[in-house]
Amino acid sequence: MAFDELRGSIAKLEAEIAGGPIVPSVTPPEIRRHLARYDFATPLPLDEVTGDVEEMLRTWQVHVTHPRYFGLFNPSVTPAAVVGDTLTAMYNPQLATWRTSPAANEIERHTLAWLAARFGLPETTAASFTSGGAEANLSAVIVALTRAFPAYGEHGLRGLPASPTLYVSGEAHHSFNKIAHMTGLGRHALRTVATDGDFKLDVTDLARRVAADRRDGLAPVMVVGTAGTTAAGMIDPLPELAAFCRSEGLWLHVDAAWGGAAVLSPRLRGHLAGIEAADSITCDAHKWLSVPMGAGMFFCRHAEAVAEAFRAETSYMPGKTAGGVVDPYTTSVQWSRRFIGLKLFMALAERGEAGYVEMIEHQARLGYVLRRALARAGWRIVNNTPLPVVCFTRDGLDPDAFLAALYRRQIAWMSQVRLGRGEPVLRACITSFRATEADVESVVSEMSAL
Ligand SMILES: Cc1ncc(COP(=O)(O)O)c(C=O)c1O
Repeated sequence: MAFDELRGSIAKLEAEIAGGPIVPSVTPPEIRRHLARYDFATPLPLDEVTGDVEEMLRTWQVHVTHPRYFGLFNPSVTPAAVVGDTLTAMYNPQLATWRTSPAANEIERHTLAWLAARFGLPETTAASFTSGGAEANLSAVIVALTRAFPAYGEHGLRGLPASPTLYVSGEAHHSFNKIAHMTGLGRHALRTVATDGDFKLDVTDLARRVAADRRDGLAPVMVVGTAGTTAAGMIDPLPELAAFCRSEGLWLHVDAAWGGAAVLSPRLRGHLAGIEAADSITCDAHKWLSVPMGAGMFFCRHAEAVAEAFRAETSYMPGKTAGGVVDPYTTSVQWSRRFIGLKLFMALAERGEAGYVEMIEHQARLGYVLRRALARAGWRIVNNTPLPVVCFTRDGLDPDAFLAALYRRQIAWMSQVRLGRGEPVLRACITSFRATEADVESVVSEMSAL
């Protein structure tokens, strides 16, 4: 099937979004009043519904694919990835078992193996696409518990000799709090380790906390290092974490949901050194790899523990496929599985690795341009990372009022965040590979006038 028309529509839409507003102004009643016409009693022509839905999305959405959306890791998306997602919807392959969707399963396996090798993980690594980073982090905790405590799977936490604990920094993603809740560990099992002056996990405090918990009869299991923290894009000291986890017999999970993409860049990958020693890694294709949501990835060097954690046998599923393949419903959280990996496969195939390196390094470069321009304009930069997230402030800043004015004038979308116990500061992340130096310079100059 030729997708020329779709590609044309994508290009047209990109141009329209780039030339239009970024932030909507709308109230819930306004949208609900509009939706009241859809009582689903009378069928409507598809063209009419499509036109109306497009209009709603255009007017009532923060446009995360706008080049001046400096936001929360939601990327602009490559046309090849959109074509991939469209094909997935059209063919609707079911990836639960290999036999049902051999092509789709092998495309995912091929893509994941390529990225696992870039992370420096062994060929035997187990990997799967997930709905996003939260599911990948959940997978990591479940597999780590299963490996540490053989009784966990059958008897739950009740069957364990001691209560397990997990270690994250205060800058780690909040999904771990929910995961501690959902797995039955309880939110108190999550130990919040101090950060250093750069908002990176402090390994000395980690060692102190692990030792104290062991003395108290608890069972430390996992340390989470973040490669690209959500708030400030910081990279925890991965080599030191790896050495510590090795010496203490702890599982090292690296949450590289956003920052993991930097491993493709020869200029940036040195900053992720140590990730190759991880027991498991989260990396989201729907962040810096610029494909539509939801596309997370979970990598784990302990394939046998993954198989144990997610084992399933029922008579209603087709029998096991022989010949060195896995049936994903037995190696991951999900059962029915969408063909998540196609969009990344197609985007990589179309741009090639060099194209991706260029895209990633372009955004990293713009991060520096933004940093420099803000400093020149008198803003105080409060984080220091090679990744394109800039946190900044100035004396007397009222972030709420400032952002409201920024949105009202449609200058850009950015957010505010609190680092450590500090006052809220502004946060801008280059998330669009279509952003230009001119976009960055003009945003800073317009901001300075606010
Ligand atoms: C570091 C980090 N980990 C995990 C997540 C959760 O990922 P998702 O929203 O894809 O579930 C995020 C989301 O921004 C993140 O920044």
